[in-house]
Amino acid sequence: MMLEFKRNILITGGAGFIGSHLVRLMVHKYPNYRIVNLDKLTYAGNLANLKDIEKEANYLFIKADICDFEEMQKVFTEYDIDGVIHLAAESHVDRSIKDPFAFAQTNVLGTLSLLQAANLAWNNKQTEKLFYHVSTDEVYGSLPLTGGYFTENNKYDPHSPYSASKASSDHFVRAYHDTYGLPTVISNCSNNYGAFQFPEKLIPLFINNIRHNKPLPVYGKGENIRDWLYVEDHARAIELIFHKGNIGDTYNIGGFNEWKNIDLIKVLLKVTDRLLGRPAGSSDKLITYVTDRAGHDLRYAIDSTKLKRELGWEPSLQFEEGIEKTVKWYLENQEWLDNVTSGEYMEYYKKMYEREVRPS
Ligand code: NAD
Ligand code: TYD
Repeated sequence: MMLEFKRNILITGGAGFIGSHLVRLMVHKYPNYRIVNLDKLTYAGNLANLKDIEKEANYLFIKADICDFEEMQKVFTEYDIDGVIHLAAESHVDRSIKDPFAFAQTNVLGTLSLLQAANLAWNNKQTEKLFYHVSTDEVYGSLPLTGGYFTENNKYDPHSPYSASKASSDHFVRAYHDTYGLPTVISNCSNNYGAFQFPEKLIPLFINNIRHNKPLPVYGKGENIRDWLYVEDHARAIELIFHKGNIGDTYNIGGFNEWKNIDLIKVLLKVTDRLLGRPAGSSDKLITYVTDRAGHDLRYAIDSTKLKRELGWEPSLQFEEGIEKTVKWYLENQEWLDNVTSGEYMEYYKKMYEREVRPS
């Protein structure tokens, strides 16, 4: 029997960290929407993140590269896509420093390919359609140690190849709105943490290293500040903006939760040691100060009052509770960590990566 759906929503990058939480939320909350998860399954995309929902009647997975414009056109037509939530991206700053081409390819050209496919598919019948770009606060650059927040009116001032590529994709999204009238919305969120994050990012990397008594490489003096938000709160914000946001608008997402890296690392040490049954302080010796990241942004801090004022969004979880849940999850899911860090996995990825993203 052919199922009828009220809407057909394309979520790109749904097998990644934030995308998998969003796909799960949308599949459960909207049984009358078909959720099409399109992902290339790079090293960061893992279908194991969605095992619990893969058999749901309103869920569909497509393995594809957003840079493949013809394939994107086919997807829009075949599934009658009327909403896009675009998360697919290369997302790690350190990788962007080593291989900026991959970031321009996926984040800029891939986004352009999706925008063009949406614009052609929706031409002249754009009511009830929406192209939502999930972006980062890193496009705004860096703040001084004390004082000031990023608001939606901040000028763009990206410093890393990652943030430059996300800034560029945001500009293309606005250009499609202003030039072709494509119904778009953008959100810029602070650093996320929670389950299913690839262990190259600070929090899962350090939890895993503490468990295995491996050094914790702290860049510079550990004085950089990041503003942390629990990933499920980000997913709820996206779902809200997707349904209630103003077309053409931008929304900042963050929980007013700034942490100096070294202070956050001390919390991770304390919670992880406690949950492993180790005496307090026994893993502190793992802290290892290493050469700073090139162009390391000093401080990010998001002002999300517009989102609260206009759409009523607030984070649901206190940081202490979120960190406790997160450390527990990684400790209880060692197999997931082992799988994504295994030699076989990384070897496979390395081959894919070298073949597909290096300019010839
Ligand atoms: P992630 O690296 O965990 O996941 C990215 C996903 O995109 C993976 O599943 C990967 O396979 C897929 N992908 C990559 N290239 C692709 C391509 N060419 N075609 C199709 N799929 C492709 O990233 P994340 O941390 O979940 O971030 C998701 C989005 O949110 C990104 O756009 C990122 O810029 C943005 N964001 C992330 C954070 C954060 O703290 N992680 C904060 C704000 C915004
Ligand atoms: P990261 O998780 O890579 O996110 P982003 O660079 O997008 O903010 O890093 C968070 C902070 O932690 C950032 O200031 C860099 C720092 N960091 C380290 O000190 N050591 C590490 O090994 C990593 C991965 C990050």
